[in-house]
Amino acid sequence: MRRKVIYSPENQPSPGTNPITRMTKLKLCLRLLWHRKLTLCVCGAILFILLNWYMQSESFLIEEFKFPVPPTTMSRQEKGKFSPEDIEVMRKKSLSKQESQVYVNYMADNFVINFTVIQNSARTCIKKFSIYNAGQSNIPSFFWAIYFYDNGKVGHNSFPYPRGLPVDNSELLIFHEAGNLYRLSPTEKFSPYINSRDTIEVPYESYGPHVSRHYSFPNWFVSCDICSPRILKSTAGEDLSFVETFSKPQQLKRGSRDLYRAFTAKDRFSRNSAAAKAPKPSVHSVIPTPLRVDAGGEESLVVTPSDWVVSTKDFVEEASLLAEKLHLKLAKSATSKVITFSQGKVNLPKNSSLSVSEAYHIYINPSKNTIEVTANEASGAFYATQTLLSLTEKDRSDTSKEKGHRFPGMNITDAPRFEYRGLMLDVSRNFVQKATVLKLLDLMATYKVNKFHFHLTDDDAWRLEIPEFPELTKYASNRCLDPSHEVCLPPSLGSGPFVNTSGSGFYTVSDYKEILRYAKSRHIEVIPEIDVPGHARSAIQAMELRYRRTKNSMYRLIDPDDRSRYLSAQSYTDDAVNPCVDGTYQFFKVILRNLHELHKDIQPLTFYMLGGDEVAGGAWEKSPACADLKQKHELRDYHDLKKFFFKRMMEELRQEDLTFGLWGDAVLDKSLNPNPLEEAMKGKVYTYSWSNVWEWKRGSLAYKLANAGYKVVMSPATYFYFDQPYEPDFEERGLYWATRCLDSRTAFSFVPDHLYWNRGRTQDGGEMTDEILCTGGCPPLTQPQNIRGIQADLWTETIRTPQHLHYMLFPRFLAFAERAWHKASWEDLTDVAQRDKEQQKDWERFAAILGQGELKRLESEGVEYRLDPPGARFSNSILEINTIFPGLPTEYSLNQGASWEKYNPKITTKLSNAGKILVRSSSFDGKRKSRVVSVENSN
Ligand SMILES: *[C@@H]1O[C@H](CO)[C@@H](O)[C@H](O)[C@H]1NC(C)=O
Ligand SMILES: *[C@@H]1O[C@H](CO)[C@@H](O)[C@H](O)[C@H]1NC(C)=O
Ligand SMILES: *[C@@H]1O[C@H](CO)[C@@H](O)[C@H](O)[C@H]1NC(C)=O
Ligand SMILES: *[C@@H]1O[C@H](CO)[C@@H](O)[C@H](O)[C@H]1NC(C)=O
Repeated sequence: MRRKVIYSPENQPSPGTNPITRMTKLKLCLRLLWHRKLTLCVCGAILFILLNWYMQSESFLIEEFKFPVPPTTMSRQEKGKFSPEDIEVMRKKSLSKQESQVYVNYMADNFVINFTVIQNSARTCIKKFSIYNAGQSNIPSFFWAIYFYDNGKVGHNSFPYPRGLPVDNSELLIFHEAGNLYRLSPTEKFSPYINSRDTIEVPYESYGPHVSRHYSFPNWFVSCDICSPRILKSTAGEDLSFVETFSKPQQLKRGSRDLYRAFTAKDRFSRNSAAAKAPKPSVHSVIPTPLRVDAGGEESLVVTPSDWVVSTKDFVEEASLLAEKLHLKLAKSATSKVITFSQGKVNLPKNSSLSVSEAYHIYINPSKNTIEVTANEASGAFYATQTLLSLTEKDRSDTSKEKGHRFPGMNITDAPRFEYRGLMLDVSRNFVQKATVLKLLDLMATYKVNKFHFHLTDDDAWRLEIPEFPELTKYASNRCLDPSHEVCLPPSLGSGPFVNTSGSGFYTVSDYKEILRYAKSRHIEVIPEIDVPGHARSAIQAMELRYRRTKNSMYRLIDPDDRSRYLSAQSYTDDAVNPCVDGTYQFFKVILRNLHELHKDIQPLTFYMLGGDEVAGGAWEKSPACADLKQKHELRDYHDLKKFFFKRMMEELRQEDLTFGLWGDAVLDKSLNPNPLEEAMKGKVYTYSWSNVWEWKRGSLAYKLANAGYKVVMSPATYFYFDQPYEPDFEERGLYWATRCLDSRTAFSFVPDHLYWNRGRTQDGGEMTDEILCTGGCPPLTQPQNIRGIQADLWTETIRTPQHLHYMLFPRFLAFAERAWHKASWEDLTDVAQRDKEQQKDWERFAAILGQGELKRLESEGVEYRLDPPGARFSNSILEINTIFPGLPTEYSLNQGASWEKYNPKITTKLSNAGKILVRSSSFDGKRKSRVVSVENSN
């Protein structure tokens, strides 16, 4: 039997009465009755019977013993039979530390969480979790607390609720800890014990729909005031099996108008079907696609380590890299069997905006047995090396036989369309180990991506050692449960109560320098970001700790008298540094000095990212320091203060050759138009246009910023936010505030030069109309030279392991790299139908290269790229399977997964058994499999 432990007023003692006084009252009453003689005897008898009944009733017992807490091993039938000594021991207020810990441990091991969604709507979600005592023991309900992270704002209509948010009528309260970390605790009136097989139900409402498993976070934990926390086992680890598998539309859809539904195998089959017919990729193919390839017939040459050499005067490092990878020696000069690197002019098409400094030319000449590389600058030579390495990978089996590398005869003339080809990595939400970062830099270099935007800080942690401020890393790089506020920040994003998860970690000075050196040798510029004024809770808390310890307020980042109330996008109430106190600017001078010092001898700092996104409305409103400043400078509101802040930051931090970066929304005024940029700052400020949802009037932001004189890097969330899911599926990882469907094909289709052609779909998955598209206006681009490039952004809220990181980034990062480097011929076609057709053809070419080479190459580099589930259908009882990247192996199972057969399209046996057949795709080495999907043989 499951029982809801819900407080009901009848079984609760009324405070202030006790059985002793009641007995005295009874005696008085009887004496009174005696005086009224026999006329009242009848009444007395009735009273006696009632009293007798009452004294044997449960409510009386509860009153008498007050906290009838059974020993842990006692079954429910025996309750009330234990001795007063037992009871005394068990009284909730006198539970010793040790005993409480026993119960906390018991709860962690035996309390099973079951989480589900009851109803989504576009704005809110009603959800519920149950806590089930699956163990054998009845335990006292002492002052436990269960901590959980919910990505919505729990009780969003009731913020703030310092005394707790009541859960139904259950005498349970939810408290807002920090950000989206919440704590569930019983009140004093809560049922005094939780028995074996009891279930506690916790329904609540939060902001924003919850439609996938990975929108839930693991590592819920239980603790008490005097206990050490313990992770609830049923929520531990990465499988998130405590989240019920949703099946109802109101669980899977974001609202009643949501048109998205999970792809079926059949849907996928038709999505993939065109690409399946794509021809085998050419031996000349390289990703990203070079500007110009002149293939020279069938001839090829083989570079063998025994007799080939690499020769260079000008680009020693780049040439050495190639020599190292191909196991060749460096030599002064040679006339044959030589790869030469020389500095020289690369002839590019006239009047193009191509990035000349990165251009290169490769001439592979089989008749002379030479490869000649020409480049304007070292970066061009580096990309030539990457291209040659990419060509060697085309036929691995061949090379092993010949102990060399075969190259087709050809000429390549290449240069990127954009000087800025970036990847942003958020290492605050979850820490990314140095080794994973280095690997990522390698992969960026392989695909010719040259800017590493390093999001080093956010609300949830600070990740870079600044020796002058040890609090930043000794304290604010850790996440754990810490009532003392001295050890770590709160455990947001499912990082659990201890510091040994991806919630905690930082780069030491030497780690950071190693990353810089590694990036530099791969021609990647590292752009550090210390996000302010919003998203800065980690810095604020660290500097408050420093202030508490030193009593020196020099570097405080807040106005201590600020009584403003606000809620950030991730539900922080205290994450905006104050623009009106000097400490803020003093602090950043130190930070920037340290950054200059770190970069100095490796890669001098020329680009510093200030952040500036999502400052919560309401910040600084009740700050006396800001009231003064507003008066002094005639500033009206939050927008003016923000403007003031960035102006002063840039003035204070400005140096020759330093460019500043800002998220696009940092410079917007009330009506979403960019603040004018001072003449002196033109060309010195890069902005990132990210929030491109047309319905939110933000879609045209990139053009507005460019027209206002800001340089612009486009990182449109619906195309290049690789924290968003690949498919609108319950099992897909990722947040979905921008889109539910961002696969490699989507990223591939972005047209940077024609912003308004990137229509996509509405938030609900509907058709995009011109009206919706232009809700924020569709101004033409008047300053095209200000569009400097594109960037993929990887936020890590749901990314806790290197596997998650690879899954979210690859393979779609290759599609991004293709767009960043190569402008396809279809991109300028004005006829939509023709453009779509040409784009589809180009996609098929690209998909074939991935399926028949590039994915294998990723695999050999140890990249655990996402395996797209296959498409499948039955046609006349013949099973047909295809994949988004033709060439990827697939498998099927006729016995619900007990065994798997490799799929071979040439074998077209009819399958007689009707019903569900399971299919999945596989990595080339067979070690990894995609999500399993099913297809029905309905004959
Ligand atoms: C959790 O929910 C699932 C699905 O609703 C159900 O099958 C299972 O029995 C529940 N577990 C517990 C312990 O309540
Ligand atoms: C490659 O370029 C060289 C000289 O630049 C030229 O002689 C040769 O014909 C070209 N080969 C091809 C295949 O275009
Ligand atoms: C060269 O570029 C400029 C500016 O982008 C443009 O106005 C001009 O028409 C171009 N000329 C040719 C021949 O394409
Ligand atoms: C993390 O620390 C906790 C508490 O010290 C320990 O129980 C747990 O096993 C540790 N986990 C890992 C993965 O080391």
